[in-house]
Amino acid sequence: MKHMAAEAALDYIEVGDVVGVGTGSTANAFIDLLPNIKGKIDGTVASSKATEDRLRQYGFPILNLNRTGSLPIYVDGADEATRNKHLIKGGGGALTREKIVAAASEKFVCIVDKTKLVDVLGEFPLAIEVIPLAQSLVSRAVIKLGGQPELRTGFTTDNGNIIIDVRNLDLKDATTVESTLNHITGVVSNGIFAKRPADVLIVGNEGQVDTY
Ligand code: A5P
Repeated sequence: MKHMAAEAALDYIEVGDVVGVGTGSTANAFIDLLPNIKGKIDGTVASSKATEDRLRQYGFPILNLNRTGSLPIYVDGADEATRNKHLIKGGGGALTREKIVAAASEKFVCIVDKTKLVDVLGEFPLAIEVIPLAQSLVSRAVIKLGGQPELRTGFTTDNGNIIIDVRNLDLKDATTVESTLNHITGVVSNGIFAKRPADVLIVGNEGQVDTY
């Protein structure tokens, strides 16, 4: 199902595109298909070191987002997705760079299998990237908001920070919670993608894809 969603995303790539590439197993399925359209792509921008390594193995040029300007397209997976294209991301800890590349892209194509489709976000623990010094400060603020924070042990982000996974937050108004969390001092970013949702959501199902 991941492969089918990844394959459908290829249709959104146009000749000469520089493609932003996400992180995780579904994004990896997409990377593994990219050699089929290698001639169309002018370069790639990676959302993590892991993705950079994988793209490099296939011989794709990796470009610096500070040199490319805005990108025509970004393709990435998600941990949860609603039909109105709000997402939770960050299960792999790459949320901040993913958010940056998504923000810099004209079209964000999100590819998921059907297990990720939900009516309301919030079952999957919400990742928050935090400056290490602020771990306790941020955790206390999250508890005040009704969340249950837990440090992701033995994990450091590509940016040298920690991840706090939060359960039990009410995400019915995902856009407001995204902003509220971002305003806690010490928070780098959080895994809600509602202010900048996906533009296209491709859901791999048994034998077909559904596009929203
Ligand atoms: C990485 O930090 C995440 O945002 C991933 O995009 C997300 O966890 C989806 O990963 P899978 O495709 O492996 O489920």
